[in-house]
Amino acid sequence: MKNRLLFDFIKKYYGQVKYTLLFMLLILPVTSVISQLVPWYVSKIITLINLNEPSDEIWQKLIVMFIAIAVLPVISTLISLFVMFLLQKKIAYPLGLRIRRDLFAQALGQHRRFWSKYNAGTVFSKIDNTRRFIAAWGSLGDFLLFFYTSVWTLIIILFLLARINLSFALAYLCGTLILFAVFHKVSSSTFKVSAQQENFMNKIFGRTVNMVGNYFLLKIFASVGRESEKLDKDYTTVCKAMQKNAWLRNRNQLFLSISVVLFECLMIVYAVLLWTKGNIQVGNIVYILNAVMPLGGIVANLAGFWMLNRAHLYKVQNNLTMLAETPEIKDADNAKQLTVSSGKIEFKGLNFSYNDAGRVISDLTLTVNGGEKVGIVGVSGGGKTTLLHLLQRLLPTPEKSIYIDGQDITKVTQNSLHDAIAFIPQDTSLFHRTLSENISYGSFNATEEQIAEASRKAFVDEFAEELPEKYQTLVGDKGVKLSGGQRQRAGIARAVLKDCKILLLDEATSALDSRSEKYIQESLQNLIKGKTVIAVAHRLSTLENMDRIVVIDNGLIIEEGRPEQLLRQQGKYAKLWNLQA
Ligand SMILES: Nc1ncnc2c1ncn2[C@@H]1O[C@H](COP(=O)(O)OP(=O)(O)OP(=O)(O)O)[C@@H](O)[C@H]1O
Ligand SMILES: [Mg+2]
Repeated sequence: MKNRLLFDFIKKYYGQVKYTLLFMLLILPVTSVISQLVPWYVSKIITLINLNEPSDEIWQKLIVMFIAIAVLPVISTLISLFVMFLLQKKIAYPLGLRIRRDLFAQALGQHRRFWSKYNAGTVFSKIDNTRRFIAAWGSLGDFLLFFYTSVWTLIIILFLLARINLSFALAYLCGTLILFAVFHKVSSSTFKVSAQQENFMNKIFGRTVNMVGNYFLLKIFASVGRESEKLDKDYTTVCKAMQKNAWLRNRNQLFLSISVVLFECLMIVYAVLLWTKGNIQVGNIVYILNAVMPLGGIVANLAGFWMLNRAHLYKVQNNLTMLAETPEIKDADNAKQLTVSSGKIEFKGLNFSYNDAGRVISDLTLTVNGGEKVGIVGVSGGGKTTLLHLLQRLLPTPEKSIYIDGQDITKVTQNSLHDAIAFIPQDTSLFHRTLSENISYGSFNATEEQIAEASRKAFVDEFAEELPEKYQTLVGDKGVKLSGGQRQRAGIARAVLKDCKILLLDEATSALDSRSEKYIQESLQNLIKGKTVIAVAHRLSTLENMDRIVVIDNGLIIEEGRPEQLLRQQGKYAKLWNLQA
């Protein structure tokens, strides 16, 4: 399954650039041929001079070979440069972009459980590693320019050596295989260490991002020092792993160098022996030296790439497996677009539990007619927010339990569902962007006038004018530069602008001063006109304008009716009301 994922991934993305890749694969062997033709011609020149007296014919031959020796390396360089250019232009940039975009979308399409399991920093660091490995210079470029060309160089060397002397070519092949095996064996140890190191780095990165996101907590618990110490410890572990890795690499390098030198000496002795027996000529020895000397580099290229990429492939495989976790909530096959007419909402025997701990919503049946405004009240932890989330499929909503205008919400696309509902959550969160961008979020084509109008309705203009750069002020991460009440009003303006038939409101518990409360009350009045509204309220004064109140306790509806009717009943609602009065 893991291998399949990796294979499909590579096929999908390399398939998009297959002609460029094919072209590179065809043109690169030319550079390998040239790298061997030059010493081949040099050896020819020496043989020619050694065995012949100068003559016009010899001169002609020599001149042709001199020109070849001068021109061929230039051609080879041009080819390499062109391949590098193609890699950057056609692969690294566009393919990298596509991979990052797709994996990013895949990660964002995941659901709560995924995001409670992995932290954001780790996930995005893994996405970037995957992109780099598949599309960037360091891996594909290495493969093409070092590994692939080295394989060809080796083939050509063997072919030319076989033309000189078959037994020598065979000895060379055996030697190369032995060296490769030695290198592979000794570098296996670094493979494990570097995998560990990478895992640890991802974790540290994730933890750092999480710390920065919660810097406020670090501050109020005076734990900056403690957290830094913890981080120091982790970094020390990574540093140790890196040192160990570096030491292993150096040791391997030394071992390989000695093996290569030994091999070269043996080959040269063998070549001289063949020469003394008259089996090869002196010019051949020149080529043999040229073929033997770079072998260390060739084997290092082959084995080094092999090792490194085995480790990388392993990581990419893991990353893809993580991202491929099936999202908890998916669009049904043939999911349709939700079409909203009156905005009628029906809950039919809805049950829900987060885990085995027990039901949060029990057999809840409720109909909210199009245009009706229903207030929901109940004790903290009673399941009110859960209900609003289920209505938006932010949780795995069971089938056939919630309908909007007669359509089962599990049978429509999530995007169309979210487009049809304006939701003001319990804690309004804003992007670290300008106030204006935040308000127009979700209504990307909104004009300046529409933004101003929505801001007026939500009483945002009252504080926006005081901000240093008015609507162009950056609101800070999650909107920290605004007060709680201001943030809420910005959230309301955002919902006003989204202008949906259905409005869900999860009122914040934060106590507001009476002036802010008045603003928010009035902005909500502006917002709910002509819409189907479900408003969760903690301050019961919010509910004065509701058509109906539903009291929820332990996921069950325990009272239902008009506000004044419920007050007369002297039940739970009346009790809550009296507590707040
Ligand atoms: N992601 C979750 N995983 C497990 N349990 C959860 C999760 N979210 C909420 N709960 C539990 O579900 C119950 C209902 O929570 P919910 O947020 O719906 O209550 P609420 O009525 O909105 O409360 P409040 O008035 O405090 O906002 C609570 O007992 C809560 O602990
Ligand atoms: Mg809640």
